[in-house]
Amino acid sequence: MLSRELAGQVAGWAEDERVETPAFLFAPATLRAGVAELRTRLGARISYATKANAHPLVLRALEPLVEEFNVTNPGHLDTLLGLGVAPDRIAYLNPVIAPKTLKRVLASGVTRFVVDDARGLDMLPETAKITLRLRPPDAGESTRSVVRFGNSPDVLADLAVRARDRGLEIEALSFFVGTAGADMAQGMPYLRGIDLLMSLRERLAESGVTVPTINIGGGFPGSRDRFHHDHPGFFQKIAAALPADVDVLCEPGRYLCQPAMAMLGRVVADRVVAGRRLVYLDTSAYAGLFESTFIEPEAGVEIATARSGDPTPAAVLGPVMDSFDVIARDATLPPMAEGDLVVLPNTGAYAWGYTAPVEGLSAAELIELPPGLSEGFAKTWFGGSL
Ligand SMILES: Cc1ncc(COP(=O)(O)O)c(C=O)c1O
Repeated sequence: MLSRELAGQVAGWAEDERVETPAFLFAPATLRAGVAELRTRLGARISYATKANAHPLVLRALEPLVEEFNVTNPGHLDTLLGLGVAPDRIAYLNPVIAPKTLKRVLASGVTRFVVDDARGLDMLPETAKITLRLRPPDAGESTRSVVRFGNSPDVLADLAVRARDRGLEIEALSFFVGTAGADMAQGMPYLRGIDLLMSLRERLAESGVTVPTINIGGGFPGSRDRFHHDHPGFFQKIAAALPADVDVLCEPGRYLCQPAMAMLGRVVADRVVAGRRLVYLDTSAYAGLFESTFIEPEAGVEIATARSGDPTPAAVLGPVMDSFDVIARDATLPPMAEGDLVVLPNTGAYAWGYTAPVEGLSAAELIELPPGLSEGFAKTWFGGSL
C-alpha cells in the first residue's frame, strides 16, 4: 500500500507544480529497483516487453538496464529505433505477421523473429534468426482471453528441421505462461514450461539442431496485488529449475513497468445516490486504466489519498456518462471533497497508450516525479515493505 504520508507528499508536490489532472506520474527509480530484484533473484538476461509500456521515458530509462527489447508491432519498433536502440537488441515477437509489416521490420535492420508455424517460417529470409515458441502446459488463458500463439513440440520439431535445412539460425526456444496459470505462487506454470522446453531442446539436439538459449517469457505478476509480498520465494523457485549450463532470457513487461506509473486524479464529487456512495473522479476507466479495469480487474486498483477520516464503502467512477466507467466497484475511502487529489499507484502496465477518445477523453500526460518521491515509490514496492 502507498502510505498516506507518501500520498500526501505527492499531492503537495503536484499542487506546488500545478500538475493538471489526470496525469501519469512516472517513478524511474522503480524500474532500477525492479531490474535489480530480477537480476538478484532470477538471474536471467532481460528482454523488456515493450508492449507493456512503450512511453519513450520508460524505454529511455530501461535502455541502459536491460540487455534487449522485444516488440509486437512496427509502431513500438520505430519508437525504440528513434531512441537509438540498435536493431540487433530488438526481437520482433508477433508470430503472425502481415507481409507488408515484415518488409518494414526487415528494412529497419531487425533480423530476430518468433515462429510457431510453417507460414511464419516460410515468410522469413535466410538471414533471419528465429525463436521457436512452444505452447506451455499452462498457457494462461483467462475468462477474457484467447491464447493464440505457441505450438506443440511435434510441430516445433518439424519446424526446427525445416529451418536448419534452409540455413536459418535457431537462437532460442520460448514459451509464455500469461498470468492466469494454476499454482502461480509455486512458480508451477514456469516449472512445467521449462520441463517441456528442455525436453524439446534435447529432442532437437538428437536430430542435430543445437539451440543455445531458452526464453521463459514474461507474465511475472506485478506490484498491484500482494503477490510478491505473500510469495517472496517466487523467483528463486523458478531460478532453481533453470539448467545451469544454458543461456536463459526472460521477457518481463508488467513486472517492471506496473509500479513505474501512478495515475493522479481529482475528485469531482462525493455523493450518495439512492443510498449508495459514489465518488466521481476526473480520470476514467477508458483513459489509461485498461489493465486494472479490464485485463486484471480482480486485483482491484488502490486509491490513495492524504485525507484522514473514517473510510466507508464507495464505488469510484470516471467522468464518462455511461454505467461502465467504473474504476473501483468496492473501494473504501474517507470522506472526500471536490478537488482532492488521489493517487492510483501501479497503473504503469497496459495503461499508457490505452485511451479511448469517447466523450472527449484524451490521454493523460506523463510527468516525472522528483527523485525523492520516485525513490519513495521504489521503496514501497521493492524495499523493506515487500
Ligand atoms: C511473448 C510475450 N512475452 C512477454 C509478454 C509480457 O507479458 P507481461 O507484461 O505479463 O510480463 C507478453 C505479453 O503478452 C508476451 O506475449
